[in-house]
Order: sequence, then C-alpha cells, then structure tokens
Amino acid sequence: MVSNNSRALVVANWKMNLSLADSLVLMRSLAVLYKKNKLDQKLELALCPTFPALTTFAAALKQTEIKLGAQDVFWKPVGPYTGEVSPRILAELGVKYVIVGHSERRQFLKETDIMIQQKLAASSAEGLIPILCVGETLEQRRLGQKNEVIAHQLISCLKGIVLPDGMELVVAYEPVWAIGSGHAVAAAEAGEMGLFIKKTLASILPTKVVNKQVRIIYGGSVDVNNINDFIGRGTISGVLVGGASLDARKFIDVMMHIN
Ligand code: PGA
Repeated sequence: MVSNNSRALVVANWKMNLSLADSLVLMRSLAVLYKKNKLDQKLELALCPTFPALTTFAAALKQTEIKLGAQDVFWKPVGPYTGEVSPRILAELGVKYVIVGHSERRQFLKETDIMIQQKLAASSAEGLIPILCVGETLEQRRLGQKNEVIAHQLISCLKGIVLPDGMELVVAYEPVWAIGSGHAVAAAEAGEMGLFIKKTLASILPTKVVNKQVRIIYGGSVDVNNINDFIGRGTISGVLVGGASLDARKFIDVMMHIN
C-alpha cells in the first residue's frame, strides 16, 4: 500500500443535510463499498457527519479504514460554554479531522478570523487535524481581490500557530461562489491557488513544516467529472466534497474517478 501522504485526501462534509438514520445508512454503505473497491489504497476518506452522529460513527468506523471528522469545534477544551463542542471530547471520541472556518459558518454564524484562529489552536492542541477553509466571495473575485483575501485569511487564522513535529494541518481552498453552485473553479486556477497558498504559508511557517505537515485540498462543486482534474494539480492533494458525497453509489463513483 502507498504511504499515507501520497494518498489523496477526500473529506465528505454532510453539513446538516441528512437525518441521523440516513447518515448511518450512508456510512454503512460507504464502508462496504470503500473496502470492496479497495479505495483505501489510493485515498484516505474522512466523513464529517452531524455532531449527534459522531458517537455511533466513532464505534462503527473503528472496524474500517475510514476516518472520522467533525464539522466544527469550540475554542476551549473545557468550561462553561453552553451548547459548544470541546476539541478534547472530539479527540476522546476518536475524531481525526475538524473543519474550521467553513464559509457557511463565517456567513451564518458570523465567525471571524479571530474565532477561527482560536478554534485552530485549540484543535491542534488536542491532536486533531484542522481543515482550515479559505475562499473568496464572488464579489471579492470580481473586484480582483482573490489573492489578497486568501492571504489575509491564512495570515489571520494561522497567527501564532506553531505546528510541532508530527502535527498536521489541512488548508481547503473553497471559493464561496463555488460551494453548492454546480460551478467549480477551473482546475488550473485551483492549482495556481494551491501554489499561492503554499507560498503564503511559507511566509508564516517554517518551510519544512509547510512541506511536510501541511496538505492543501480543493472544495466547491467537486463531482464525478472534475475530481480527477483537481487532485495532483499543483499542490492540491485532495478534495472537500459536499453535495456529491450524499449518495453512497454516486460518491463511490466520484472517488473511483481519481487516477
Ligand atoms: P459542495 O460543498 O461540494 O456541495 O460544493 C463543498 C463544501 O461546502 O465543503
């Protein structure tokens, strides 16, 4: 089997789209089909279901090669924070990845770069691998501010973050206008953005850390027709998939298209 880091990373973000029952059915079908099609040999799959499903998923996924991810996290490990979910508890549960700063949270929950930075630091401290989402809105893109916006998000969200040896970080380039729209960014442009992200990271983190401990992935309307164009393009080594991950057979088909 190829080593972990040369495998593509595929993260399924189910958002709030499925019932608990449907999430379980989907997870069980994926576990069977992932194994049957030997997909573990070419990719690492992480599922990010709704919070209440995490406990059941953690137990079920232990018997599989599939990893568990959470869609969000709080920035303190313990304390009087009604309704929030602790990174320490996620780690205790066996969660490996945690999405931070998704544009839907920035938009609907008014999450700021400062909050995201704290979530990132707290997740890392508990041994979780943060998936930091960055991306420009359509308006920012039209105004030619794309690179500036991404650089600003990276620099603010990673302020003061050190990644000790062995700790990983995933950065997901997710143009806001591409999410759920059916219009993915052109693969060549995603590749260029991957390089830009890497260059920006190298200005704030040691080069060795960037090369060895950071993976850059793309998200936004990834589907069966475009997945293979993104993976391996520039520095892009994986994808974050929303809509196309909600049906087991279709999602397996999407993953089968990775060369
Ligand atoms: P999408 O969502 O694949 O449905 O565009 C991606 C995401 O929000 O992470």
